[in-house]
Amino acid sequence: MTEIQVVTGASSGVGKALCRHLAQHSYPVLGIARRLPELKALQAEYPRQIHIMSADLGTREGREGVRQAIDGKYSVRSIVHSAAIATGGYLRDLDYQTYRQMMAINVEAPLFLTQSLLPCMCDGARVLHLSSGSAYRAVPYNGLYSISKAALLMMYRAWNADFPEREIVVGSAMPGVVDGPMQDAAREGDHPSVEMFREYKNKGLLIQPERVAEFLSWLLFSTNDQQFSAQDWNIFDDSHHANWLHGPLSG
Ligand SMILES: NC(=O)c1ccc[n+]([C@@H]2O[C@H](COP(=O)([O-])OP(=O)(O)OC[C@H]3O[C@@H](n4cnc5c(N)ncnc54)[C@H](OP(=O)(O)O)[C@@H]3O)[C@@H](O)[C@H]2O)c1
Repeated sequence: MTEIQVVTGASSGVGKALCRHLAQHSYPVLGIARRLPELKALQAEYPRQIHIMSADLGTREGREGVRQAIDGKYSVRSIVHSAAIATGGYLRDLDYQTYRQMMAINVEAPLFLTQSLLPCMCDGARVLHLSSGSAYRAVPYNGLYSISKAALLMMYRAWNADFPEREIVVGSAMPGVVDGPMQDAAREGDHPSVEMFREYKNKGLLIQPERVAEFLSWLLFSTNDQQFSAQDWNIFDDSHHANWLHGPLSG
């Protein structure tokens, strides 16, 4: 059975760049997101390597569709959960619908997609979560996002606690401040963190998604199981840069 790398959030940013990177290195990839035109454009770049699927991963039906598309056809070598949203707002104003929407894609999707694909995974398959500094510190006006990323952080540890024999190995990585729609949105409007986000751009600190893809690829293919799952890998930590970074990180 063909081994496949599953990447969520494939229509944009890190997920899209990772699909391209994996395809360039001859890995068969299944890229998932909701927006089909973006997915089709990506697939057209690497029609032999990239398979696509439009699914709302925040729903049970969407995840079940992915499982059905994979089961019996592919053996999953890795899943990278890049799909997420980062709707801003104060907790005091938070409505239940917004809460449900963010928790569904940022927390439930990685948990239950991994769970449903367990029977389709190769022995020792790797699962990688996209973490954030927001998992560790509360940024004003971004409380719900911080809550969701803190839950995701514990989720990677909890999976590894459940699989001490490493039937699957779960890792976590912080991609830094990534140039793309999430940062574009964070620089909009009038909120207490807007100047911080604008400064990231003005000071040339944004990291291109292609750089993040190189980092994630190194984690997926060049670390051993113990290293892969040992920490929430931070792209800004220069102790690992010699292993994968060629050129400046940002700018
Ligand atoms: N950007 C940053 O500065 C930053 C910093 C720290 C951590 N991170 C994390 O890194 C990851 C990637 O971020 P990014 O900058 O690449 O984000 P992005 O460009 O906004 O992409 C988000 C992706 O998630 C997909 N998505 C959202 N809701 C979905 C749903 N219900 N079902 C399926 N797919 C869904 C979107 O596709 P569709 O809209 O087509 O569904 C899109 O492909 C995220 O987990 C983010 O939290 C980002």
